[in-house]
Amino acid sequence: MGCEDGEEGLELEDLEGIGSATAEKLRRAGINTVKQLACIPARELEEISELAEGKAGEAVRSAREAVFPKVMTAREYLEKRKEIRFLTTGSKNLDNLLCGGLEPGITELIGAYGTGKTQVCLQLCLTVQLTRNRGGLDGAAFYIDTEDTFKPERLYPMAKALGLEGDQILDRVHVFRAINSDHQFEGLRIAQEYAADRKANLIIVDSLTAHFRAEYSGRENLVSRQQRLNTFIHQLQRVSTMYDAIIVVTNQILDIPEVIPGVKPARPAGGNVVAHGCTFRLWLERSKGMTRVSVIDSPKHPKNTAWVMLTEAGVSDVEAPR
Ligand SMILES: Nc1ncnc2c1ncn2[C@@H]1O[C@H](COP(=O)(O)OP(=O)(O)OP(=O)(O)O)[C@@H](O)[C@H]1O
Ligand SMILES: [Mg+2]
Repeated sequence: MGCEDGEEGLELEDLEGIGSATAEKLRRAGINTVKQLACIPARELEEISELAEGKAGEAVRSAREAVFPKVMTAREYLEKRKEIRFLTTGSKNLDNLLCGGLEPGITELIGAYGTGKTQVCLQLCLTVQLTRNRGGLDGAAFYIDTEDTFKPERLYPMAKALGLEGDQILDRVHVFRAINSDHQFEGLRIAQEYAADRKANLIIVDSLTAHFRAEYSGRENLVSRQQRLNTFIHQLQRVSTMYDAIIVVTNQILDIPEVIPGVKPARPAGGNVVAHGCTFRLWLERSKGMTRVSVIDSPKHPKNTAWVMLTEAGVSDVEAPR
């Protein structure tokens, strides 16, 4: 659930117990807004700021009270969820699978190479720019590209198919090429600034897991890798909560040895950390020259399947094969 709108315009100094000296220390630690303060754990704030002992907890509590309601009834929550604006994928089949499109939270696209994860991400960079009456957010995207697969040329035919015109389309897609996992964290820090300034309402991480897998290979590094990945996902969740941002991540699959001959079992990389951290999990598979997309885990979507086709024009609808 995102923050209340009531805190818009509220400065750090407006909070109870926060004077100009404390506000200055918070800003020096990179905490500029009440929302940021409300979402940071006190322990983390203590580490990054010069606040005296106990002051961090007090400041966070004060911000949280200003931003989040203490308790809501389910009816109030439902009313609040009616304000959510869904983002179209540009494919009716996928939108139907997602009961209307993408929503704030983390959506994970899982699949083998060439199944269309990046194509979906590129297309979302454009649909987010569509007007609201066309299922867009009249917004912009921030793309953290970890595999050098972001190809801006692909946006032209996709934009044309969506009826989007003009070179400003490319200006509304901000690309950060992350060269390793530390750099990926840096990309997220910048993405957060864009989200805070309302310069991006969609954040893509393509791929979430590749750098972590490559850098922390071997069993002996598994625990450190999962901890680091967990921290990254947790920060993603926080950005989504703070700014109602829609987050889309891609994930690879691991081949595991065949138990039944001829049947190749596979599972998503990142184990439980990714499984628990991502809200909506979609599995993409190539079949009969098309891509089959299945919901494999979601707190609200039924476990259905949709079919799409990868074409020059992007991710297009196709009839389910018989
Ligand atoms: N210009 C194009 N015209 C038609 N189809 C295209 C075009 N560009 C890409 N594709 C399709 O998209 C596929 C690649 O999809 P994509 O890059 O999204 O895969 P991916 O799931 O991200 O794979 P990886 O795990 O390797 O990153 C190609 O195999 C092709 O089918
Ligand atoms: Mg890709």
